[in-house]
Order: sequence, then structure tokens, then C-alpha cells
Amino acid sequence: AGEASESVAKHRVIIVANRLPVSGGRDEKTGEWDFRMSSGGLVTALKGSREELNAVWIGWLGQEIPEEDREQVREKLLREYNAVPVFLSDELVNKYYNGFSNDVLWPLFHYMPLPIYQSEAGSDKRFDTVLWDAYREANVLFADAVAAIWVESDYIWVHDYHLMWLPLELRQRFKHANIGWFLHTPFPSSEIYRILPVRKPLLEALLASDLLGFHTYDYARHFLSACARVLEVDTTPRGLEYASHFMSLGVFPIGIDPEHIAHILQRPAVHARIAELTETFAGRKVLLGVDRLDYIKGMPHKLLALELFLTRHPEWRGKVTLIQVGVPSRTEVPEYQRLSERVNELVGRINGTFGNLEYAPVHYINQSITQEELVAIYNMADVCLVTSLRDGMNLVSYEFVAAQRDMPGVHQKDGPGVLVLSEFAGSAQSLSGAIRINPWNTEEVCHAIQQALTLSRAEREIRQHKLSRYVSVNTASSWAKSFVAELRTVCANKPNLSKL
Ligand code: F6P
Repeated sequence: AGEASESVAKHRVIIVANRLPVSGGRDEKTGEWDFRMSSGGLVTALKGSREELNAVWIGWLGQEIPEEDREQVREKLLREYNAVPVFLSDELVNKYYNGFSNDVLWPLFHYMPLPIYQSEAGSDKRFDTVLWDAYREANVLFADAVAAIWVESDYIWVHDYHLMWLPLELRQRFKHANIGWFLHTPFPSSEIYRILPVRKPLLEALLASDLLGFHTYDYARHFLSACARVLEVDTTPRGLEYASHFMSLGVFPIGIDPEHIAHILQRPAVHARIAELTETFAGRKVLLGVDRLDYIKGMPHKLLALELFLTRHPEWRGKVTLIQVGVPSRTEVPEYQRLSERVNELVGRINGTFGNLEYAPVHYINQSITQEELVAIYNMADVCLVTSLRDGMNLVSYEFVAAQRDMPGVHQKDGPGVLVLSEFAGSAQSLSGAIRINPWNTEEVCHAIQQALTLSRAEREIRQHKLSRYVSVNTASSWAKSFVAELRTVCANKPNLSKL
């Protein structure tokens, strides 16, 4: 591993992802732009390894930047964050990001193709080639940004479903480029994937990469069988040859930065907050849910299970509370708006039925919260409920495990908490210490809640030991380093790209 990380550091890695790890705003008085690091799945995962990887980041800022400010923004981001912005108009974002990425690929990759074909009040939705054109147009703009800084020794690491067209664009411009692509979502069964009208060009574009990475063996296997069926090619578990180019394939399960959580747990402000929350919820058990407000996370399923639990177990009324964080996400996509309404409705119904002036069974926090607040809640919670209907990995399950530490002098924690985890989250394949559930089975989730609340301390300790061993070894940084090391290896052995 030592050797791998040394060699990894030798060449620059260009990380290309839809979103930059920074966000910012313009001071109206001075006209100056100011940026700060943001949080979020991929951002958090790569933050710790950026320097080790000698990385520069290319991506969109999450907002349209006026023409006259672009030079200032570009210069500042490069100087302060080693980041290169891709400027996209709101109109293009609406079709590329809200439309093709998040209303076509995202549901399909999570086994929910229906929203794009369902007949809705007043309009028949169908696959819209305008969105596909916009997707490719946006990917070309990302390719332009790479081209502006690329040198032959670079390793280009492309991320996620937003940029599946990019490897082909890059390969057409730079025959010898070293290109890797990693998927942060599931890759669905070929039975689902082949629904996609543009299934073939999208696969062909990806095959211009040197290395493709997935979180789990299942996702990699699904990808290979999609290639076999759609492109009629022979595949091996290590990759496949297409258009005289060999493309390797690997499994790289992402992790978190457990030390970062351990550091946050040492802050006095976090100690104070844990003590405060422990007092607020004294005499009650705390169930915790932390999700982006996304239909793949199965929040309604979780709430229905809680409702059933409180109906079946009146002895727990007044004695258990669910803290549910629902971070607003992709709010311009109609499916997300409908979900938000449904969650509000269910929270209201449960609180109305089982609550009283002193007691609310659900505390719903429909906003993002600070890292300190999050870690404090993770630490004091008794049970974490992850009910994803499909989830590429689910880092909340890892973060909860990493935050389950004794806090002597802060509060008397009665041993570790329990993780209840959907078998449809990628992390369920590694976290054998969790109580695994099928979120579609409300009875089963209801039973798991009861089991989690009543497990003996000894049993919880055994489970936590297994869980934390995995989470502390398989970190974000080891994930990033192993992907880049593999990319380096496969590129060094490219038989078909003689540089003569
Ligand atoms: O792969 C899922 C992902 O794209 C993550 O990288 C990201 O943290 C999350 O979804 C939210 O994405 P966004 O807010 O950029 O749409």
C-alpha cells in the first residue's frame, strides 16, 4: 500500500465531477466572489485525499455565473482551491442536470423508471431527446474544461452518472489520455438498463475509458451483462474489448473519513450539544434518520413502519422519538416535490395520532444541519434507521458507526447504538453487524425497530465491533488511492495505445 500511494502522488489527477467541492456567492457591495468548501457525499469522500493525489477538480458551481464575473471566479477558484469551474447556463442545467441526469438516469439506475413514462395529470411524459442532446452538450463543456489544462501525464478521473458521455469526448480529443470513470450510484440489472432509449451510445461512450469502477460486485456484473446484451460483446470479469480498445473494470467500495468524525467528537461545542440533547430526550430512546430528501431513501417507508410500531406497541408511546433529518435536494424536479409533500403529510399524521403537548414521536428537520450538530445527534442516538429502496453505498450508515463512541464525562452512554440497514443499500454488503431489512416489508421494519430498541448491551457491542472494524479500515482515502493506483496500473499496461 505504501508503494501504491507513493506512485499515485507522482502525477496530477484531474477529478471531474458534476459539482465542485466549493460553493459561493457575490458580495453585492464590492462585487467580489467569496467561496467556501461545501459538504456532500463525493466532496467529503475526496476531500481527505486531494493533496495526496495531487488533484485538481473540475466541475459546476451549482449556479449560473454572469459573463462579466467569470474571469474573477475562474482565477479565484484556481488560486484558492485548485479548482476549475465549468460555466453552465440555467437553461442547460435544467435539461442536463434536472432533466436527463436526475429525471431519467437517476430513477432508472435506482430501479424506478416509471416517473418518466407515467401519464400525469394533463401531460403524457415520454423520453425526450432534447434532454439527451443537452446532456451531451453539457458533457462537451466539461471536456473543454479538461482540454484547457490537460497534459499527457495526467490521470483523468471522471465521476458519476452526470458524465457518462465524457470519456468518449476526451478519447476523441486525446487518444493517449489516461481515463477512469467511477459510478457512485447502483448500476441496475440489464433488464432495467435496457429500457433506456439511448442505452447503446451511453455504454459506448463509457467504454472509451481505461478503467471503470463500481461500489459492489453486483453493480459491476450488471454493467458487464448490459454490455453483453446491448453491444453483443464478450466480457470477462476484468473487463472487455470494444472498438480495439481494452477497458478494465474494478470494484472499489467507497468509505468515509472516520478520523474526521473522531475529531469533531472531541470539540467542546459538540460535548455541550450532546449533553443538551441527552437531557432533552432523557427517559426516551432516540431513533435517527439522516437522508437527502430523495425518493430512493425510502422515507415514507420508514415513517409507515414507525406508525405501525407505535400502533402495535402502545407501551412505547411517549418513550421513543424519531429524529429525521431530510436535507432538501433537487427541489426543481417534480418527483422530489411530491415526495416532500408526502413526507410532511406522514409526519403530521403520526404526530397528530400519537403525540401530545409534551411528546412528538417525530422531530422532522427539513433543512441541512452543521457537521457538529450531525455528529452530536449520531453519537447520542440509540438506533439509526436506513431504509433506502436502492442506494449506491449510503455513507450515513458508516458515519453513524464511526460516531458511536463512549463519551466519558459528557454523558452516560449505555453502550453502542444499533444500525438498522436496508439490504438495498450498497453498504449492506459489507456491514454484517447491522440488522438488515427489506424496507418494502413494513412488518419486518417494525419488528427490526423493536429488536433494535431491546437488544442487550453485549449483543450491541458485538455488532458495533464488527461494524467499526470495517468502517475504520475501508476509508474514503483508501478508496481513492486504490482507484488511482489501479488506473495507473492499467494505463501503464495499455497494449493498444502505443505512444510512438
Ligand atoms: O452519486 C450521488 C450524488 O451525485 C453524490 O455525489 C452527491 O453527494 C449527491 O448525489 C447529491 O447530489 P446533487 O445535490 O449534486 O444532485
